[in-house]
Amino acid sequence: MMFDVGRDSVCCTETLLDAWGKSLETSLEAADTRVRATLLLACCWIACGMQLVAQSRQPRNAADIPQTNPYTSEADVEAGRKIFGGRCGHCHGQSGEGGRGAVLNSGELHHGASDREMFLVIRNGIPNTEMPGTFGLPDAEVWRMVAYVKQLRRQGSSDAAAGNQTAGALVYQKNSCAACHAIDGQGGFLGPDLSEIGAKRSIRYLRDSIVNPSADIPLDYRSVTVITRDGKTIAGIQLNEDEYSVHLRDMSGNLRSFLKSELREVKLTGQSLMPAYGALSKDDLDNLVAYLSSLRRSAAQATVWMFDRLENIGGNKTTVLGAPRVIDSPIGKAVEFDGVRDALFIDNHPLAGAETFTFEAIFRPDGGEREQRWFHLSEQDPKTGVDTDNRMLFEIRVIGDGWFLDSYNQSGTEGKALMNRSAVHPLGAWYHVASVYDGKEFRNYVNGVQEGAANIHLAPHGPGHASVGVRINKVFYFKGAVRMARFTRRALSTPEFLTLPVRP
Ligand code: HEC
Ligand code: HEC
Repeated sequence: MMFDVGRDSVCCTETLLDAWGKSLETSLEAADTRVRATLLLACCWIACGMQLVAQSRQPRNAADIPQTNPYTSEADVEAGRKIFGGRCGHCHGQSGEGGRGAVLNSGELHHGASDREMFLVIRNGIPNTEMPGTFGLPDAEVWRMVAYVKQLRRQGSSDAAAGNQTAGALVYQKNSCAACHAIDGQGGFLGPDLSEIGAKRSIRYLRDSIVNPSADIPLDYRSVTVITRDGKTIAGIQLNEDEYSVHLRDMSGNLRSFLKSELREVKLTGQSLMPAYGALSKDDLDNLVAYLSSLRRSAAQATVWMFDRLENIGGNKTTVLGAPRVIDSPIGKAVEFDGVRDALFIDNHPLAGAETFTFEAIFRPDGGEREQRWFHLSEQDPKTGVDTDNRMLFEIRVIGDGWFLDSYNQSGTEGKALMNRSAVHPLGAWYHVASVYDGKEFRNYVNGVQEGAANIHLAPHGPGHASVGVRINKVFYFKGAVRMARFTRRALSTPEFLTLPVRP
């Protein structure tokens, strides 16, 4: 309690205190709340004087990057073409026609088509994909590539899908592709998630992937076959191998570990686990490719994460801490956390690069410790992978048999906690919560009712990751369950919010 009071009213400006309170948490991860509160008060009187220091400690920040490209002359475009040819063409094609990398000369750029967004994508890469960053390359060179990619887009492309999407969806169904692939959360996960495959791969590449899957196998999907001493053969995706053991995901999706001493043989086959569909008719293949190519999300569309499994949330890899459980609740599957050591880390910051956003979640708080951080999106330093202070957070405070919401947002030197202590809700029920930022004002909501608002400038975050059930630095564990989250790159109005399914 003291801590909250300190953060809101003790000295200087509220914003500064928010920032201090929060960065103290970072440095004093495990410290007891009272000690922290005392320290906070002690630090307060120097806080104003230290503001400059705090600013100079701030991590690299997307706010410093201009909105429009300063390098757009013909000479810049030509220089960009040369760098692109050397560094990017083998994945994206020399004219941006796509290949292993996304098509750049037509269609929508789903990571953003503004100069600044492209700059960030090219400089930082896209986490969890093959798209690397260009670390170490001077900013001017990155801008020249932005200029070249823009020119490619003006030229356009001739690589259009010949088939019919709707017919293709049927071919997908008939051939049980969903046994191994998920689209928008539906399907298996032995193979890559295909929800956005159309934005990642060219038509030609998609066609090859179906007819000849072994031709180019993404690094994360290399297959391995082990033969045990007693002659059993198990095939799967290689997850890890060291001197003594082999770990794989078998064809049913189970994680399996073997001691090499128990095995007769370990074979890296170089063959895909996906059957080759060379026998499809030309029409079926055209239609299937047209369907896959249509699977892309526009920047304005929402990303949904369903918490109905542990291994993979929203197509992203997870790291599991403790033993969170998948439960059946009256509103569907959810992941339950024990408030002590359970958490999920998810390899994606779904709102990275967003200038405006809506961050929604459906959850059930069950009580436990007073302070809990249960949904944390954090930017990471692209060079070191270390979490920066830039973050979006849902927190709660538990008092008696109720709770109230604390929504926190920070970018660069600006940060703000919205916390309405008088809006106390009963524990043990399902709630919808939302943080909305429209470019000027940050607002938060519980079940569609606004609880707070503040004017603040929040520059877009760089790429990063997320933790659910705990703060990203593993303090303030959450007791309760999370059903789903949705991330939208614009400020939604309340009627557009997700709704809680009606309970039977
Ligand atoms: C190893 C292959 C590879 C290399 C090298 C590579 N990319 Fe990419 N790139 C990708 C992939 C794959 C994606 C799609 C990622 C996704 O969205 O899942 C991508 C995405 C992009 C995007 C975003 C497309 C969109 O829809 O918004 C841009 C822009 C881009 N790359 C530019 C470049 C530039 C410029 C270079 C050279 C400096 C480069 N890439 C090098 C594989 C590569
Ligand atoms: C037995 C499981 C399995 C089935 C069935 C299967 N796939 Fe795959 N698929 C995989 C695996 C594993 C990979 C990754 C290795 C590779 O690229 O070959 C993959 C890769 C792909 C890729 C390339 C993805 C990328 O990121 O480049 C596409 C596209 C694809 N599959 C489409 C299909 C379609 C369409 C069908 C149905 C006609 C299908 N798959 C059926 C397992 C399967």
